[in-house]
Amino acid sequence: MTLAILLPGLSIAKPSEGNGTTISKNMTTSQGYPINNDNNSLTVGNRGQTLLQDFQFVEKISHFDRERIPERVVHAKGAGAFGYFQVYEPMDNYTKAKFLQDSNNKTPVFVRFSTVAGSKGSADTVRDVRGFAVKFYTEDGNYDLVGNDIPVFFIRDALKFPDFIHALKAEPNNNTPSSSSGHNNFWDFISLTPESTHMITWVFSDRGTPASYRMMEGFGVNTYVWVNKDGKPIYVKYHWKPKLGVHNFDRQNATKIAGEDPDYLTRDLWNAIQKGDYPEYELYVQTMNISEEMNQTFDPLDDTKIWPEDKFPLIPVGKMVLNRNPENFFTQVEEAAFCPANLVPGIEFSADKMLQGRTFSYADTQRYRLGANFNELPTNRPLAGVDNNQRDGAMQYQVFNGSVNYYPSSQGGSEPVSQEGEAYEPYLEGNMTREQIYKTDDFTQAGDRYRSLNQTEKEHLVSNLVFDLSHVTKPEIQKRAVDNLQQADKNLSAAVAQGLGLKK
Ligand code: HEM
Repeated sequence: MTLAILLPGLSIAKPSEGNGTTISKNMTTSQGYPINNDNNSLTVGNRGQTLLQDFQFVEKISHFDRERIPERVVHAKGAGAFGYFQVYEPMDNYTKAKFLQDSNNKTPVFVRFSTVAGSKGSADTVRDVRGFAVKFYTEDGNYDLVGNDIPVFFIRDALKFPDFIHALKAEPNNNTPSSSSGHNNFWDFISLTPESTHMITWVFSDRGTPASYRMMEGFGVNTYVWVNKDGKPIYVKYHWKPKLGVHNFDRQNATKIAGEDPDYLTRDLWNAIQKGDYPEYELYVQTMNISEEMNQTFDPLDDTKIWPEDKFPLIPVGKMVLNRNPENFFTQVEEAAFCPANLVPGIEFSADKMLQGRTFSYADTQRYRLGANFNELPTNRPLAGVDNNQRDGAMQYQVFNGSVNYYPSSQGGSEPVSQEGEAYEPYLEGNMTREQIYKTDDFTQAGDRYRSLNQTEKEHLVSNLVFDLSHVTKPEIQKRAVDNLQQADKNLSAAVAQGLGLKK
């Protein structure tokens, strides 16, 4: 059964629907008690002490006192929109994922774009990576493609992620990420992490300051495995391409807008959708036979690497249209929970060590940030039916019928379903070890990327690097950063060294 049948008339409204509460014109307390004065507290005389028995006051203030929840530990500032995804052709050669088969089927989606480093109130146009997270509400449950706007990442092992984020965000003593000492921490970590060199050539180009979420590419970054109905696996990397093309600000413009309109990208997305100017993106994949993985000069499961497009061409998959703004930011966007472990049958993980770590981290933080029942919140609830024996927990509001909450059971209850198609059962072996991958090759693609830029892009990359590194107060950190660039491309490092006034 297709989702279109499940959802007559493509009812993409469902993930954001309200809870059915009737909006009344008569003001009441949360218990429904009629309120006839919402301007004055209950006091002893009109100038007197406020009475503790003023339950209307107590309830209103104490609810207000609890309005904030922890912001996301990363990607705290974001903007969301609803829409749909439509596949062009059946992808059944590669994957049995049902939402990738029927070109008549529109799969509802929710997308959240974000910055990474700043807190919830930070400016949109600062230099940073941008998150590009898509939740597909498929008939086999939610599939989350949690990506970024840059195709590679700073590190290749999830164990390093907390250190990287600590060095990127505010320094613990003075809470200032942008002070010169904050730059020391960032560049200290980066210069001691040579695999970040490729990512640096992206983030410090004008890619680090996109002009619009509507004009930004997206990438899955990590490698996934698609599996067809015969159980045949293939590696895939995802790419989103905006219909409007890629447009970025230069540093000067981005800095100016950050001061004048800190919510620029959020507003731009909202206004475009409000006007009916719906953002569109095409989804492509690169595929690689698993038998070819060892024949590459680089490790294809290393997320600091791209797969060259001349060797692994982009295959068009479908298009996504964002055509509806959220009605309520907190419930639909702030409480949204994406997770790379939200898969559907036909899509599996590769051994990419970053992806493996990510599969744990997201739902773990969401149980803390949103609570044990975060999957029942409007944006997170799958449109596909959910049936299992998970029960209770804080803020559980579902009323479960019946007496059976266990399996196996001879008295009814939910039953496992049989798998469709052949099973994917890869054979795994190896010593238990803590080691780097063999083919680290931290610099070749960084140099290739620099040399692929046109003259203006090269100048902007150098200028942005010099501007940032000039805030580093320790010359040995600057020197180490330039040494890494030198291994990528001598012209790049020479230009940065000259800009910083470093001796040869
Ligand atoms: C958000 C962890 C790498 C993309 C988050 C969150 C955590 C996290 C804890 C907050 C989730 C929430 O509170 O709902 C990690 C770890 C990583 C990692 C441990 C490395 C091992 C990456 C990479 C990408 C990425 C490589 C891009 C491919 C995102 C996006 C969000 C996010 C887009 C925001 C999702 C949203 O809009 O709610 N990450 N992350 N992360 N991460 Fe990662």
